[in-house]
Amino acid sequence: MIRVEDLHKHFGGFRAVDGASLAIETGSITGLIGPNGAGKSTLFNVIAGVLEPTSGRVTMDGEDITGLPPHELFHRGLLRTFQLAHEFASMTVRENLMMVPGNQTGESLWGAWLKRGQIREEEAAIRKRADEVLDFLTIRHLTHEKAGNLSGGQKKLLELGRTMMVDAKVVFLDEVGAGVNRTLLGTIGDAITRLNRERGYTFCVIEHDMDFIGRLCDPVVVMAEGRVLAEGSADQIMQNEAVIEAYLGRGLKNKVKAEAAKENALAESHGAQPGFGDEAAAGGPL
Ligand SMILES: Nc1ncnc2c1ncn2[C@@H]1O[C@H](COP(=O)(O)OP(=O)(O)OP(=O)(O)O)[C@@H](O)[C@H]1O
Ligand SMILES: [Mg+2]
Repeated sequence: MIRVEDLHKHFGGFRAVDGASLAIETGSITGLIGPNGAGKSTLFNVIAGVLEPTSGRVTMDGEDITGLPPHELFHRGLLRTFQLAHEFASMTVRENLMMVPGNQTGESLWGAWLKRGQIREEEAAIRKRADEVLDFLTIRHLTHEKAGNLSGGQKKLLELGRTMMVDAKVVFLDEVGAGVNRTLLGTIGDAITRLNRERGYTFCVIEHDMDFIGRLCDPVVVMAEGRVLAEGSADQIMQNEAVIEAYLGRGLKNKVKAEAAKENALAESHGAQPGFGDEAAAGGPL
């Protein structure tokens, strides 16, 4: 389980994360939603060791992991993907996947020279794993495609695939659905569900598409102004007044209420079904 306790990340005087506390249960697909600028990506960056927190604590299975650099978290199976996918554009999809595993013998020159046989074996094993990942994600046909030519959704699938090249435990996905067409979003959702059920991945997913969140995530955590505003099932969250207010703002919310009241009044007056007599009375006798 990942536990975030009273986390702060300030940029100068600006409090992007301002005392956020939440837990991500092992085995869950936890959704993280909130208006633009709520501090979701910043929270991810702090948890994943990309940014140092100003204060607060992050633990993983009871161990303090606050401020650990990304490569150490990587070894513990904690991975994140980025709001903007960053693939190696001029390499093929398979090569992108094969880049992921660390500690390869071929990485040092001496190692390469001394252990050519071992390298070949390692490479073959990694290639096999990459091809399994491509099958799992149903993108085997893109094996030799340059990653730079992929669509936004395909790049997101590739990012997900990269997490599968190592034994990930907890994966943080930042806006998997942004700019992705419906069909591919379905494929991504299916892959997440299957990774969760079949391979025991825990996910924390930032996404603005509420259909996607509702279909996939339980619980859903709502952030606003750097803090956790609410937590619950997707249905509970969507009916939560404070959440609606955070998304719409007070002014807009009042406007929506006023519109609803107007519509109700109109519906009621129609509901009275005025008869011809009334109209005649209103118009007066000619
Ligand atoms: N490096 C930075 N320096 C200064 N301010 C920053 C920095 N990174 C983020 N912020 C600010 O912190 C706030 C939270 O940003 P963040 O990207 O975490 O929001 P978000 O919830 O991910 O929003 P979105 O849904 O638009 O992606 C924003 O007001 C942003 O401008
Ligand atoms: Mg963001």
